[in-house]
Amino acid sequence: MSATGGAGSFHGLPGLITIQQHIIANQRRHSEATGEFSFLLSGITIATKVLASKVRKAGLVDIFGATGEQNVQGETVQKLDRIANDLLMHCIGYRRSVGALASEENETVVDLTETGRAGKYLVLFDPLDGSSNIDVNIPTGTIFSILVRPDRSEWSEAGDVQAEILQAGVRQVGAGYVLYSGATTLVYTTGNGVHQFVLDPEIGAFVLVKERITVPARKKVYSVNEANSGSFPAEVRRYLDWTKTEAAGYSSRYVGSFVADFHRILMQGGIFLYPPTAKAPSGKLRLMYEANPMSLLIEQAGGSAIDGNGRILEKTPKKLHERTPLYIGSKDEVAVVEGFLRGKGAPAA
Ligand code: AHG
Ligand code: MN
Ligand code: MN
Repeated sequence: MSATGGAGSFHGLPGLITIQQHIIANQRRHSEATGEFSFLLSGITIATKVLASKVRKAGLVDIFGATGEQNVQGETVQKLDRIANDLLMHCIGYRRSVGALASEENETVVDLTETGRAGKYLVLFDPLDGSSNIDVNIPTGTIFSILVRPDRSEWSEAGDVQAEILQAGVRQVGAGYVLYSGATTLVYTTGNGVHQFVLDPEIGAFVLVKERITVPARKKVYSVNEANSGSFPAEVRRYLDWTKTEAAGYSSRYVGSFVADFHRILMQGGIFLYPPTAKAPSGKLRLMYEANPMSLLIEQAGGSAIDGNGRILEKTPKKLHERTPLYIGSKDEVAVVEGFLRGKGAPAA
C-alpha cells in the first residue's frame, strides 16, 4: 500500500489511506488475524486525537486553572499528564482484547481480568512524554508498547499479570508513538516496517504520509543532556570529546522530549544518548514503555539500540518501571559509541 498509489482515487483525494485502513490491510496479511488488534490500535488513535486537542489548548487550561484551581464546570483542573493517562486507560481499557494496562503514571499493572475478561494483549504506555515541556509550548508525545499475554504454563506464578508483563522487548507485537507538535504525527510498527501518519485536522483522521521508513546509517548529530556529562562513564565522555574535534565534525540537537528527539533521528538520522549519571545510575529512561517501543521502531527502520552491554530488545525486565541506559539511532552512529564503550576509541577516519 502506498500514500500515492495502490488505493486509487476517492472523491478527489488521491491515494488517501487512513491509519485504520492501513492496519486492516496489514492485518489481512495474517490469516489468523481476528480484527482484535486493529480495534485495540483504534483505542490508541482515539485517545491521542483527544489528547492532541487538549495539548493545543494547554495554555488556555492553565489560564482557567490559575483562577482558583477550578475549570468552568467547577471541576479541579488536572495536570495534562494525568488527563493523558485517564484518556488512554479509558480508550484502550474499553477494548475487550486488552487484558492489562501499564503506565508510567500507575505504580502497578492494571489487571482487567478482575473485570471478568481475559484479553490477550498487554498494553504499556508513557501517556505524556516530555510533560515538563508543556508549559512552554514545546513538543511532547505518547509512547506505546504492545505485548501478548504468554501461555500461562511458562510462568511459575500462573496468571499473575504483574509477572506476565515482564517480557523482553523482542516479544513486542506492536509499538509506536504520537508526537504533538506543529502537526500531530503517529508512527507505528507491527514488525512489518515503520509507518508514519499525520492527523489531518480538517477530516479528523490520521493519514498515511510515509511507509517503510528507513533511518540513514550515518548522520553526525548527537542528542544528549550534556550538562550531566561530569558524571557520565569515562568512555562516553571520551566519545563526546571526540565528537567536538574538527575531524569528527558533529553537530548537536536536544529538545528534552524523548519523542521529539527520537522523531528527528528516525527521519534524519543521528543518535540519542541517555547514559548512566550520578543522579540516575541506571539511566533515566524507562525500559518497558520508553526504550523498548522506540528500540523496536528503530530496528525496524534499520537502526539500532543498545544499553552499553547489548541490545535493548533482549533485556529481560525485572520490574515494570525499570530504567536503562540508552544509546539509540543510526546504525553506524550507535556502532561508534559502542566502540568507545568497549575501549576501542575513535573509528578510523
Ligand atoms: P517524562 O516526561 O515521560 O517523565 O519523560 C521525560 C524524559 C524524556 O522525555 C526526555 O528525553 C528526558 O526525560 C529528558 O531528561 P533530562 O531533563 O534529564 O535531560
Ligand atoms: Mn517519558
Ligand atoms: Mn511521561
